[in-house]
Formats: sequence, C-alpha cells, structure tokens
Amino acid sequence: MEKIKSAAEALVKGNLVAFPTETVWGLGADAENADAVAKIYKVKQRPSDHPLIVHISSSEEISQWAIDIPEYARELAKAFWPGPMTLILKGSDIAKDFITGGQPTVGLRVPDHPTALELLREFQKLGGRGISAPSANRFGKVSTTSAEDVRDEIGAELSDQDIILDGETPRVGIESTIIDCTKSFPAILRPGAITPEMIHDQLRLELGTDEKDIRVSGSHKSHYAPAAKVVLEGEAKPGDGFIALSSIPTPSGVVRLCSPEDVYEYAKELYAALRKADQLGLARVVAIPPEGEGIALAIRDRLERASRG
Ligand code: TXA
Ligand code: MG
Repeated sequence: MEKIKSAAEALVKGNLVAFPTETVWGLGADAENADAVAKIYKVKQRPSDHPLIVHISSSEEISQWAIDIPEYARELAKAFWPGPMTLILKGSDIAKDFITGGQPTVGLRVPDHPTALELLREFQKLGGRGISAPSANRFGKVSTTSAEDVRDEIGAELSDQDIILDGETPRVGIESTIIDCTKSFPAILRPGAITPEMIHDQLRLELGTDEKDIRVSGSHKSHYAPAAKVVLEGEAKPGDGFIALSSIPTPSGVVRLCSPEDVYEYAKELYAALRKADQLGLARVVAIPPEGEGIALAIRDRLERASRG
C-alpha cells in the first residue's frame, strides 16, 4: 500500500514504475510527460514510432483520451473492462505524438489487477490522467510475468528513482487483445484472452474468427523471442527444451519447460517457460502449439512470432 503510494509519487516526478497487470508486467510512465515517456523507449530500446497503450482506472476516463467513440466501443468497454483488452480509438488533444507514435489514434486499457488499479487510483489522486506502459521487456524479447523477470530483463537500465512493484502473478499471462475501434466495425489487431467469439457474442456483429483475418499490430514479424531457437514443427531431440500441454508425453532426453493442463494454463506459463529455456542456456525449444479457437489462437500467434526470432 505505502509502496504503491510512493510509486504513484515516482510517476508524478517523471520516473518509471514497472507494475503487474493481469496480462504481463508493464513499464509505466506518466502518459502526459514527454521526458518520462522518452525513458521508456530508452530502457526498452524500442523504436519511437511504436505507440504505447495508455492505462486508465475506469471506462469513464475514455472521453479524456479519445474522441468520436463508436457505440460498439463503449459496449466493449462496459463488458470487458477492467480486463485484458485494449481499444484503439481516435485520440483527443491530450494523446500526444510521443504516446501515439505520431498516429491520430490512441490505445486505451483498464487493467484487471489489484496492484495496477491501486497504482492508477493513487496516481489519479495526485492529478495523473493515465499511465503509458508497454510490456516490461527489451524490444522484441519475451514479456515478463514476475517482478524478478523484470529485474533480470531491464533492472540494469533503470535508475535509483525508478520502481519495480511486486504483486500477484498475472492470471492471463499473455498481452491484451487489441481491437481497432476507428472504423464502423471492430477489428482485432492482436489476439488475446478476449476472444473473437466473446466479442461477437457481446456485439452480435460479424468478426473474422479465421486466423488470416487477424492483422497483428506492429510491423515486426518477430517478437516475444527468447535467445533459444523456437521450433514449432518436427521432433524434439535430447537436450531440447519442450513446451506442450500435459496430455502430450515428454520425448526422451528433452527438458520439459512446462506442462499446462489446458490452454489457459498454457498462456499463463508460456513466457516463464521461454525465459527458463534461456536461463538454462538451451539452444533450441520445441513447442507444440495448442489447437482450437479462443485463447489458443493468441498462444499460436505468440509462438509463431517467437519462432521467427
Ligand atoms: O497486455 C498488454 O497490452 C500489456 C500490458 C502492460 O498492458 N501491454 C503491452 O504493450 O503489451 P506493448 O507496448 O508491448 O504492446 C502494445 C501494442 C504495440 O504493438 C503497439 O504498436 C500497439 O499496441 N498500439 C498501441 N497504441 C496503438 C495505436 N494507437 N494504434 C495501433 N497500435 C497501437
Ligand atoms: Mg510488448
């Protein structure tokens, strides 16, 4: 609690705060402070034309950051916030170029995690209106799902005034679903735990559920990649890392990195498993992607990108 108050104060002073969300850890800065936001790009070594998601504490704050909000976007916000969903909307005048990467749109999200929400509320009490936060990892690398992973990943780049908050393990484990809400129909830009089926059921609008209909944000095909080579096809050889549902037996001689019981556990454990491969110095990881729709689609998206690393 006291720790969260100090973290909110650190944000006001223009410092960085890494904080847990229900998806992954975010690396946060005051979304209205250009110098603070510049630190995020520096720490992550991220190209400056890559926009950042602004985290807000409730859907009421949408209209501070966005204009021309379609009815369907309000409905999505009402149904799935707080939660693992980011809405891309036309930005208001407080959504500056240093947040949007020079685009006319802004990404907004209300995270569903006690620490993140508490931080947002404390920050708001001090006059803050939004916390811009990408995933707390170096650009192109695997996202972090524990405070310890954040320290390993970017700790050396942070200053003494920056803070890494501890907290509950993210219940989802992969990044939010990103939905473009700037057209007459919503379009998924990055698949996540809010699935095409859920969006369709909520809005009763047709949405592509086919993987090829899903445009994934960012021009970089490779992402979420560990140092180990990730392979999605072929036999696992002795000495390889192995990631698969628990129903799939472990090939002999491989290092089993996780054994999730179902697709939800798969999403939750995936990034820690990829990091473990690097900690163990493995050269290669064989991952068997889960089949089916829903969050399995998002897991396959992350695995495919990791395999292009
Ligand atoms: O679950 C999440 O979304 C996590 C947690 C920390 O909230 N954040 C996250 O941020 O994954 P990041 O920066 O690693 O990925 C955000 C993606 C980027 O690919 C970025 O290009 C896209 O969102 N994005 C952000 N604002 C956008 C905008 N205005 N238009 C299009 N894409 C946008
Ligand atoms: Mg990221």
